Amino acid sequence: MSDRPRTDLGWFEELYAKTEQDPPWQRERQRISLEQWVEAQGLDGANTKRAAVVGCGLGTDAEYIASKNYNTVGFDLSPTAIRRAQELHPDSNVEYVTADLLRLPSDWRHAFDLVVEVWTVQALPDPPRTQAIEAIASLVAPQGDLIVIAIARDDDGPDHRPGDGPPWFLNRNTINKFDTLTGLTARDIHLGPDPEAPDRRQSWTAHFTRS
Ligand SMILES: C[S@@+](CC[C@H](N)C(=O)[O-])C[C@H]1O[C@@H](n2cnc3c(N)ncnc32)[C@H](O)[C@@H]1O
Repeated sequence: MSDRPRTDLGWFEELYAKTEQDPPWQRERQRISLEQWVEAQGLDGANTKRAAVVGCGLGTDAEYIASKNYNTVGFDLSPTAIRRAQELHPDSNVEYVTADLLRLPSDWRHAFDLVVEVWTVQALPDPPRTQAIEAIASLVAPQGDLIVIAIARDDDGPDHRPGDGPPWFLNRNTINKFDTLTGLTARDIHLGPDPEAPDRRQSWTAHFTRS
């Protein structure tokens, strides 16, 4: 990996392109918090609803959402991640797209019944973190849902300090921006042990809707 500053988002592409190994966040099964939330909601896209998976990486969560019968777009800033996602899932129904959250296609505005954000915002410094939160919210259709899953800070301190991160684990103030800045409504903001590392860290599972 290069020594370029992590405020330059090009490091994601470098990481995907340079290593033959998977990035540290990659796993073979969908994020457990996401699965728990989807199952609890009983979600089924009935092959008519549209979903967007933000910062989809190698596609694990996008494949899971597609298995719930959503017409699913998985997008990522990194062209290599998108190519590898397509190679990993050759029979996929997911539409994998290289796209920058900070420059979204205009026809994606309010276009998705379900928007899934897992661990992307915490990988971004601020700026552009606040802009990214607004962009994620802009994807949600009327009556649509947004689910945000992120590792939580274990105190109420600032979640972006020069010199630390990435990642920058999120505090409550940042989670609240998903509704206070965007016009979405918070339905449930849950903070609890991360099911993937319950002894080591807390995580947010936060559900927002657009009325
Ligand atoms: C920490 S990884 C998480 C990947 C995946 N969501 C997961 O949970 O495994 C963050 C992902 O967001 C992508 N990303 C970062 N900035 C982005 C942007 N501006 N637009 C789209 N994707 C971005 C990165 O390339 C990377 O795949």
